[in-house]
Amino acid sequence: MLDLLVINCTLPDGRKNQDIAIKNGVIAEIAPSLAGEAVETIDAGGNLVTPPFIDPHFHMDATLSLGLPRLNESGTLLEGIQLWGELKPHLTKEALKERAHALCKWSIARGTLAIRSHVDTSDPSLLAVEALLEVKSEIAPWIDLQLVAFPQDGYLRSPGAIENLKRALDMGVDVVGGIPHFERTMEDGRLSVIALCELAAERGLMVDMHCDETDDPMSRHIETLSAETTRLGLQGRVAGSHLTSMHSMDNYYVSKLLPLVAEAEITAIPNPLINITIQGRHDTYPKRRGMTRVKEMNAMGINVALGHDCVMDPWYSLGSHDMLEVAHMAVHVGQMTGVSQMQEMFDAVTINSAKALGLETYGLEPGKNADMVILQASDPVEAIRLRAQRLYVLRRGKVISKMAPQQAELSLDGEHYAVDFRHSPSSE
Ligand code: FE2
Repeated sequence: MLDLLVINCTLPDGRKNQDIAIKNGVIAEIAPSLAGEAVETIDAGGNLVTPPFIDPHFHMDATLSLGLPRLNESGTLLEGIQLWGELKPHLTKEALKERAHALCKWSIARGTLAIRSHVDTSDPSLLAVEALLEVKSEIAPWIDLQLVAFPQDGYLRSPGAIENLKRALDMGVDVVGGIPHFERTMEDGRLSVIALCELAAERGLMVDMHCDETDDPMSRHIETLSAETTRLGLQGRVAGSHLTSMHSMDNYYVSKLLPLVAEAEITAIPNPLINITIQGRHDTYPKRRGMTRVKEMNAMGINVALGHDCVMDPWYSLGSHDMLEVAHMAVHVGQMTGVSQMQEMFDAVTINSAKALGLETYGLEPGKNADMVILQASDPVEAIRLRAQRLYVLRRGKVISKMAPQQAELSLDGEHYAVDFRHSPSSE
């Protein structure tokens, strides 16, 4: 007897009329018209069923703090960093945890069941680290939360940062972070990348650095990150987040750089909602938009995953932790409007992110965890277009969130119409 049968599914690869059999929290089988008794059956109604969304780049220690202690009047990165500095002395573990749990409930409702969050290790009290480690174990039944030790004030620049970061790793933080473009000099940035990669290699950890989050085309720390990854044998375990300087780099240099990134098997993690609002602020016109070279990296076979980065915090006032909103922005700002490119942006918030986090039990395949989302959409492109409703969110084969389908009821000259915005492309 199966625990659950999800019938009449369309899968992200285009297969239609598929049934998904679930037993003991694991996918037992996927095939058309599966027979077999099940305790419960859900009819997906031909809608898209996807493995959950994954956010590979987030800041859970700052989320939902908007307005504390004041709003970011200019909307700039620098005022955001200043604001975060003003807020830090007033943070309490309880309030931080409360905000993190509130955010996680939004994430679950949006079908996001794995999150990699950076946690600021600059403060010697490591209060945010302690708080998020507790949140990680409390939320584990529903969300896989991976933490990155993030030296926001600089690894070499800020006194005590090296010790604080190592203590955070000793406490159980999973991934080594960094911020080389924020160190005092290019040389210090390079040395910080080397030191942090060596630390990760010693401890057998993954690396995810805020790397070159600047409009300065000479910010080339991704080059050192790639070279160190290869030198230390860390291939496949390293991510470069943001990489916005690549937007402004010389094309000839990029043609040398991207093969190094590919060779090191680095995951690139752009954060389009934040990059488009924060970068280019010193420009008049033309105004750069700071999105890294997604199309070119995809063409090179580099793993590209998209992050949300911020929700209602000192840097970004908007958002509801919706990874389809992230993919939607990436399609626009990256000009990824080709048919297969839009599909790639859906992959960037699902399977590519799973690869970045190293989630081995993820995916819609027999033997994988029965974690999935039923969307009110017929395919990944429609899901992005509509930022489609998450009708059901399943974790280990159990429904943990439901949302009513979106539908308007029109009354026009006495005629009634139901409108839900779905529309498949004409095949004629
Ligand atoms: Fe970030």
